Amino acid sequence: MDERPDRLQPAKSLSSYDRSVESLLSEMTLEEKIGQMTQAEQSALKDPADIEKLFLGSLLSGGNSDPKTGNGLKDWTDMYDGYQSRALKTRLGIPILYGIDAVHGHSNVLGAVIFPHNIGLGCSRNASLIEKAARITAEEVRATGIQWTFAPCVTVPRDERWGRTYEGFGESPELARTLGAAAVRGFQGADLGRPLSVLACAKHFAGDGGTTFGTGLPKEGNRSIRLLDQGDTRLSEQELREIHMQGYISAIRAGVATIMPSYNSWNGVKCSGSRRLLTEILKQELGFEGFLISDYNAIDQLPGNYKSQIEQSVNAGMDMFMVPNRYREFYTSLMEVVKENKVPISRIDDAVKRILRVKFAIGLMDKGRSPLADRSLHKTFGSAEHRRIARECVRQSLVLLKNDKKVLPISKRAARIHVGGKSADDIGNQCGGWTIDWQGKSGDVTTGGTTILKAIQNAVSKKTKVTFSRDGSGSEGSDMGVVVIGETPYAEMRGDREDLSLTSEDIAAVANMKRAGIPVVVVLLSGRPMIIDKALANCDAFVAAWLPGTEGQGVADVLFGDYKPTGKLSCSWPRAMSQIPINIGDQPYDPLFKYGFGLSYE
Ligand code: BGC
Ligand code: BGC
Repeated sequence: MDERPDRLQPAKSLSSYDRSVESLLSEMTLEEKIGQMTQAEQSALKDPADIEKLFLGSLLSGGNSDPKTGNGLKDWTDMYDGYQSRALKTRLGIPILYGIDAVHGHSNVLGAVIFPHNIGLGCSRNASLIEKAARITAEEVRATGIQWTFAPCVTVPRDERWGRTYEGFGESPELARTLGAAAVRGFQGADLGRPLSVLACAKHFAGDGGTTFGTGLPKEGNRSIRLLDQGDTRLSEQELREIHMQGYISAIRAGVATIMPSYNSWNGVKCSGSRRLLTEILKQELGFEGFLISDYNAIDQLPGNYKSQIEQSVNAGMDMFMVPNRYREFYTSLMEVVKENKVPISRIDDAVKRILRVKFAIGLMDKGRSPLADRSLHKTFGSAEHRRIARECVRQSLVLLKNDKKVLPISKRAARIHVGGKSADDIGNQCGGWTIDWQGKSGDVTTGGTTILKAIQNAVSKKTKVTFSRDGSGSEGSDMGVVVIGETPYAEMRGDREDLSLTSEDIAAVANMKRAGIPVVVVLLSGRPMIIDKALANCDAFVAAWLPGTEGQGVADVLFGDYKPTGKLSCSWPRAMSQIPINIGDQPYDPLFKYGFGLSYE
């Protein structure tokens, strides 16, 4: 494992494969080229033979796209191998790239180790740990044959009402810059050609975390939403560069192979159609040599009909298109606009050249190596060793916000500890969105892992009694109360909120505990800071645990003092909704807890 955080340049540049790329390109028909630029959703394939017939360059699994046979490791591996075998039957036998949102572990697959979401990792400030986490994710992804993750998200979320806040490392460009590059190095390894490397994808370019409140998605179904997601980022080019482009600059330096342009607009123009952003800045100025993958149906949001949307986006510089359901229509429409000379063939050649570079770099074109899955990797999938690193990530991501009278750490020899709160025994709430399901869900979403209640039971002495009630009642006579509360899972589109106050159920659970007159510790599970005044006043200690993932034991490590807290806030913690948006550098700046705040034990 290469852990040097100072290493910026990968072993080989992507353009170093250009001789082989050019020679392959010269043999390709227009059909074969357009196929390379097309990415379909596997679950939306109208006929699996479309892979060969349309020469598809890529498939993806979106957030809800499991294999038909089930959601286990073997199902995923068999599914991948099945599709890849089809691509190998084409005239040129160019393998497909398979993309997936392995955004905190191989998070669609049952039994994978689930890491904390990025907002928590950001609080660790630990680039080499984040590199390790990405390395392990890469190994688990590779176990299923897949060689491309749509990660890291290097967004800089500036308004916590946004439902994707947790996908970013924090509100400062510095965190996206340093930790985003670390994740790229972890996924891609020292050399993309090594069998355990996966392609990274820095997303969503640019300004996804900077949209103006009220400009978001107009509708989902017949519900009007219009908060922040996919909205308009109203900033000067200089501000966009200083705040929202830093993660891309460092990801490109670290050799990132792919970048995903964003759904959002920049000053009224959709990023997916912006030549300024995609060609002039990313490719020409920053020297990005890999390829751009459009976001899920993102081109549908450009002005005009489907043909003109395609024309606009290809000419802006998009190389591969995530056209989950409309892939057949995309293929024929792109063919038409090329034949009508609306898209120059030189642009098609440039796009395909970039895609092929990446296929060569990741070793897919290597005749001596099978593009099918290496099933010997199944042995370490979700292994204790992988979980150990995730537990280390959890310990380092927790932020201690309050610790009156040093009630923490808790003694493992306490006679009785009462645990309460709706999230104390809920692995789904610990993991948040993008876990098994697109939006995530409460309850036993996956196999393996430890809930916080179980972790507390594991940590204490044999003589200690651990009791539990969801509403926190019945704690009388305990030495200590621990209440685990917070958000329930959500993801993009549905996670935007106008109000980040705690629910009355959560506030009541803390109050019930406190009523017994015992010291109370609150553990908050959330994808962003919340308005916590009522709970904070009613407790003695408060821990922000973010969305820690499957390894709840890391939370117990901090509660019982096996690990002294080191986490520092990756975002400013607002006092009230009226303070949002609030970010480091604002004038005036008076949050409840400042960016970088975090207590420890002596
Ligand atoms: C999200 C991306 C994701 C893609 C594929 C989109 O809706 O914005 O982050 O990679 O779907 O699931
Ligand atoms: C897919 C996600 C995708 C979303 C966007 C969902 O159905 O599962 O991957 O990001 O749609 O609309």
